[in-house]
Amino acid sequence: MESKQKVILTGDRPTGRLHIGHYVGSLRRRVELQNSGEFDKIFIMIADAQALTDNADNPEKVRQNIIEVALDYMSAGIDPQKSNILIQSQIAELTELCFYYMNLVTVPRLERNPTVKSEIKMRNFTGVPVGFYTYPISQAADITAFQATTVPAGEDQEPMLEQTREIVRSFNFTYGDTLVEPKILLPENEACLRLPGTDGQAKMSKSLGNCIYLSDPSDEVKKKVMSMYTDPLHLQVSDPGHLEGNTVFTYLDAFCKDEHFERYCPDYANLQEMKDHYTRGGLGDVKVKKFLLAVLEEALEPMRVKRAELEKDIPYVVDVLKKGTEAAREVASQTLRDVKNAMKINYFEDPDWVKEQEEKYKG
Ligand code: TRP
Repeated sequence: MESKQKVILTGDRPTGRLHIGHYVGSLRRRVELQNSGEFDKIFIMIADAQALTDNADNPEKVRQNIIEVALDYMSAGIDPQKSNILIQSQIAELTELCFYYMNLVTVPRLERNPTVKSEIKMRNFTGVPVGFYTYPISQAADITAFQATTVPAGEDQEPMLEQTREIVRSFNFTYGDTLVEPKILLPENEACLRLPGTDGQAKMSKSLGNCIYLSDPSDEVKKKVMSMYTDPLHLQVSDPGHLEGNTVFTYLDAFCKDEHFERYCPDYANLQEMKDHYTRGGLGDVKVKKFLLAVLEEALEPMRVKRAELEKDIPYVVDVLKKGTEAAREVASQTLRDVKNAMKINYFEDPDWVKEQEEKYKG
C-alpha cells in the first residue's frame, strides 16, 4: 500500500546500556531525522518482548534496563515532544498481529534468516525457543503496526526488513491492500555500520568488555580511549602506521568532522591529512587518541548533563514512556482493526456475516 504519511519505527532490545556503536549505527540518525521535521510520526520502541525471546530465565534483566534505555534515548536527543518512546510488551495488538502473520511465513523461510542463524550460533541454547525463532515475524508486526515507511537501523536488521516486506506483499496480495512496505535506512558509512570494540574485535559487546557506553563518566572514557587497539606494528612515532583495522581511526571515521580539527587539532585540516601523516610515519598514537577523546567528549558530555537532569526525575521519564505507549497503541489498534477487516475476521462488526449466516440456515 502507498503510504500518505512518512513514519519512522525503530527500536532496541533493553538488555543493557546503549554504547557508541548504537549511537553511530542508528541513534544519532534518529535524532537528526526527528529534528528534520520531515516525518509525520516517529515511534522509538523499547523491544522488551523481543528481549525476552532469549532471556526467558531473566526477565529481571529486561525489567531493569527499560529506564536505562529510555535515559540513553532522551539524553542522546530523542525529544518526547517529537517522538513517541514506547514499551513493546504494553501493546497487546503487536502480538495479535504477529499471530496472523505467522500463517504467511514458512518454517524454511525462517530458517534462512542470516541474522537469526548467527545469533543462534552465538547463544548457547539447548534448544532454540520458538519465540526466538519467530522474532522476525514479531518484528514485522512492530514495523507494520505503525505503518512505518522508514526504519533507521544497522545492517544486521536488513533480513528483518526483507522478511517484513515479504509479509506485507503476501498479506496485501491475499487480503487486499492494507499494509505499508518499509525501507531500511542504513548508517552513512562503513565505520558507522559496524563500529568495532575498543580492543579491535569486530563488535562491541558487554561480555567482551570492549564498549564505550553513552553513560560512561569522562574518566572512564579517557581510560578506554587511551588503551584502545591501534596498529601493533607502529612501535615508534617515526614508524609508518597502518589504518587497516586501526580502531582509533575507525572511530574517527564514524565521529569526526572537519570542524573538529579547527577546535582540537589545528595541525591538520581534515581526517585525510591526519591519516596521511600517520601512514607516512611521524605521528604518534597518543596524539591521535587525544584528538579522538576530544571528539567523543564533544558528543558525550552534553548527554551526561542531560542524563543527570533526567535521573533526578524518573517519574517524568516513566510518564514519557506511558504517554508514548498510549499514542502508539492507538495507531497499532487501528492497524489491527484494518487487518482483521481485510481478513474478514471481524464477525461482530460485520453485518454481512450475520446476514449471510442467517440466509444460509433459513429452511
Ligand atoms: N531487533 C532489534 C534489535 O535487536 C530491535 C527491534 C525490535 C527493532 N523490533 C524492531 C528494530 C523493529 C527495528 C524495527 O536491536
